[in-house]
Amino acid sequence: MRNKVSIVGSGNVGATAAHWMAAKELADIVLIDIIEGVPQGKGLDLLEAMPIEKKDSFVLGTQDYKDTANSDIVVITAGVPRKPGMSRDDLLNINHKIMKDVVGQVVQYSPNCILIIVSNPLDAMAQAGYKMSGFSRNRVIGMAGVLDSARFRAFIAMELKVSVENVTAFVLGGHGDTMVPLPRYSTVAGIPITELMDRATIERLVQRTRDGGAEIVKYLKTGSAFYAPSAAVTEMVEAILKDKKKILPCAAYLEGEYGLRGLFVGVPCKLGTRGIEQIIEIKLTPEEKAQLEKSAGAVKELVGVIGV
Ligand code: NAI
Ligand code: 2OP
Repeated sequence: MRNKVSIVGSGNVGATAAHWMAAKELADIVLIDIIEGVPQGKGLDLLEAMPIEKKDSFVLGTQDYKDTANSDIVVITAGVPRKPGMSRDDLLNINHKIMKDVVGQVVQYSPNCILIIVSNPLDAMAQAGYKMSGFSRNRVIGMAGVLDSARFRAFIAMELKVSVENVTAFVLGGHGDTMVPLPRYSTVAGIPITELMDRATIERLVQRTRDGGAEIVKYLKTGSAFYAPSAAVTEMVEAILKDKKKILPCAAYLEGEYGLRGLFVGVPCKLGTRGIEQIIEIKLTPEEKAQLEKSAGAVKELVGVIGV
């Protein structure tokens, strides 16, 4: 039987994620949106590309949650993106309202799915989705760390003029200004970048990573990044559908890991058929731990505002 992935929100991130997933023939895809015609038009357009791409992914655009029934994974990208001058946190109340509209309907038709939350502010929306869904914590995952780490990897590869394939990187914490890129755990062909670059260069790349979302918003002016975010979602979807047991940084609901409890924070997770199959606890220096706690504090403040 084919896998089924539904994507709620057929805007830039949702539609581009559908594109990556269909091109990789990962699943049949349902696109859904509140704007009539948009998911239908984008879905049909993508479906018509499949003969050229020689892929048999079926793509359907719809307004009706019945069409999402029995999805293996539902990706929630519904929401409002940032405009210049806005932080991700400015989206809190409006996107929380949208989550309330979406999650109940998703759960009604796909009670056994795995939820991947993308809407911002990411960690707070993941927490809202987790609480609204009633799912176990392994089945609600926030996408941010894969994106933030990919940005860090791209900047490292450009700086050292090496293949991106050689670069691994880890960014933990909340998806915001306080995110925690970890140079000690970031490598080029297995060599920690702390051996390859001086402190000032690393600090410059770390800051560019923290500002990575804002850098794109500044260029685009009318919205935020979507190619890298949707590629990040696709990597998570692939890891789950193919039961790859891949270790990726994801926002997960912590129950004591890293000394944090009752909060979504970005940490290394093993992704497989059951969603988050393990949270990996790596050793942090006191300075890294303090940064992670500060980042968790920022998430806690946001979830407090919306009471989730
Ligand atoms: P977009 O504006 O292009 O698309 C959002 C879509 O959601 C629109 O088509 C809109 O009609 C739809 N929508 C709004 N309310 C809805 C509802 N109740 N039900 C169904 N659909 C609804 O925005 P984009 O660029 O796709 O971003 C989507 C969200 O993802 C934003 O909140 C953005 O901040 C967030 N984001 C998060 C990232 C992360 O790393 N976690 C990365 C990139 C974006
Ligand atoms: C980003 O980091 C908008 O959160 C999104 O690009």
